[in-house]
Amino acid sequence: MTDRHYRMPVSINNEDDANPSNPSAGPSMTDLIAQRVSRRTALKGLLASAAIGAIGAGTGLVSRPAKAAMGLSFEEIPHAYDENLHIPAGYTANPILRWGEPIIAGAPDFDAAARDAAAQAQQFGYNNDFVHFAPLPEGSDASDHGLLVVNHEYTDAHMIFPGFADGKAALEGTTAEMAAYEQAAHGLSVVEIKKEASGWALVKDSKFNRRITLATEMTLVGPVAGHDRVKTSADATGTKVLGTMNNCAGGWTPWGTILSAEENTHQYFGGDPSGTAEAANAKRMGIKGEPSYAWGKFDDRFDISKEPNEPNRFGWIIEVDPYDPASTPVKHTALGRFKHEAATTVINSDGRLVVYTGDDERFEYVYKFVSNGTYDAAKGRASSSLLDDGTLYVAKFDGDGNVTWMPLVHGEGELTAANGFNSQADVLIEARRAGDLLGATKMDRPEDIETSDKTGKVYVVLTKNDKRKADDLNAANTRAENKWGHIVEMVPPTAGGKADHAATSFTWSAFIQAGNPDDVAQGAAYGGAVSQAGWFANPDNVAFDAAGRLWIATDGFPDHGVHDGLWVTETEGEGRAITRHFLGCPRGAELCGPAFTPDGKTLFVAIQHPGEEKGANFAAPSTRWPDFKDGMPARPAVVAITKDDGGEIGA
Ligand code: FEO
Ligand code: CA
Ligand code: CA
Repeated sequence: MTDRHYRMPVSINNEDDANPSNPSAGPSMTDLIAQRVSRRTALKGLLASAAIGAIGAGTGLVSRPAKAAMGLSFEEIPHAYDENLHIPAGYTANPILRWGEPIIAGAPDFDAAARDAAAQAQQFGYNNDFVHFAPLPEGSDASDHGLLVVNHEYTDAHMIFPGFADGKAALEGTTAEMAAYEQAAHGLSVVEIKKEASGWALVKDSKFNRRITLATEMTLVGPVAGHDRVKTSADATGTKVLGTMNNCAGGWTPWGTILSAEENTHQYFGGDPSGTAEAANAKRMGIKGEPSYAWGKFDDRFDISKEPNEPNRFGWIIEVDPYDPASTPVKHTALGRFKHEAATTVINSDGRLVVYTGDDERFEYVYKFVSNGTYDAAKGRASSSLLDDGTLYVAKFDGDGNVTWMPLVHGEGELTAANGFNSQADVLIEARRAGDLLGATKMDRPEDIETSDKTGKVYVVLTKNDKRKADDLNAANTRAENKWGHIVEMVPPTAGGKADHAATSFTWSAFIQAGNPDDVAQGAAYGGAVSQAGWFANPDNVAFDAAGRLWIATDGFPDHGVHDGLWVTETEGEGRAITRHFLGCPRGAELCGPAFTPDGKTLFVAIQHPGEEKGANFAAPSTRWPDFKDGMPARPAVVAITKDDGGEIGA
């Protein structure tokens, strides 16, 4: 989800612009001295690195197109901002799944003007975000047949329901029927798709096709399951939760399931938390009686003053088995509760499972989970229990280029009853506060994290932080009022020639500082000269292709006058950290996904919130992409991109 302040009234904010949720104490004097040293070190590191050497921060070299030596042959598209989706010549973009498209057998067709919750529960949801292609048959590397798993992150009432001038009016005018519709438009979709001669198409009525919504029963598993703080009047066991929401990015597991991240769950809870036992916890998560949705008016579970434990049942990583439409999704509490962006899983050199996940809010932290057990492919779906038994760590980045992973374990260090942590469940429910006490590094909004199969390196995407003050910089977040975002590269040590992702000490360096290198004041830094279209801002979701290139999707570039979209770079060699522009979104939209088929010949992207800008509403979207028909609203959609010569994307 983008920062919504530039196009939404204040009361509908995704985040509180004036008050990020992390109130923990600023750095000590020792930290400040370390930071002064570290900023020099970090900058020196940027300038001295062979990879970044061609251009330091703000040297203003924007000129020649990046070379085809990167193995990328497409012709870059220019920066633009208009109603259309832009891709390079020689490629085709086919919107294959649009909001409201019927996906369950017997579901009604999309009705441009009418909103029916029961219909929406059988149709493709709103605001597609994470996309994953799961081949069919399972276990194959088929690239022409599979399941597409898609998150539906959030809804924008004034863009969905006719008759509201803006989000504030829609919030005030929300009826029980509208709330039910919104809940049905959240969650996930699983759909079977096939590549025909005419292109990718939905397999209608497939037995795999499934909607997951706020009404789908899920099981809470791991150390928090059954704890008093997750019991409610509807669930005395503390193990059965109805639904999931604000599913942002995600990941997948070696055993064929997908992980989906519950992100900004605070904005769904109304009521005054201050008189409840969860008041401090609610505040740290941003729940303060100013919800962006009116659900609490119609359902007590979304009113924290009536059901103070319900918010503790959201903010987790959930697991869904796309191959079994009857399966019950689970919420894995061992991975902590915060505003999860993604969950990237890697089998470690010693067989343990490691999951990287970030907390996407200004000044929040980067985490990883390390399983106690080792992965055994023969166990199939039973491997899911690896995610319930292990250690959650939070990251501290220092100015000497080290990352220290600090365990969030009850009874260790500050995480004791003296600080209100009476069990590991308390530590996990309040993972943010545990991270505060350990002195984790406050980051510029951790979004996606991905690992390179080729090098073992880990990329942490920081989208921006315009609230960071010049006196609150740290080694890994070096720009005040960071409007552009950056990407940090972490390097695990090796064990037996393989990356040891379970190690508690990594090294790190700056990979890219986004922004326009022509404007020296921005402090942008790439691996060399980028073209006029090659620079970007506000990286969000990233994906590696089969060749090991990093594809970077953006969210927020319109604040700088340019469409959001997709850029690609090598991570090693001559083309390292030199980005080229591949795709531009229709106006108002951010780019989500992206995901490749195993053969690299299809790229799926999700166009989220098209047409949604300041002043836009259902009747007046700023684009009617992808249908471009009068009366038809702008529709979030998943697009399949293929190369006309049938080759690999980008190559
Ligand atoms: Fe939902 Fe952090 O983007
Ligand atoms: Ca985003
Ligand atoms: Ca995101």
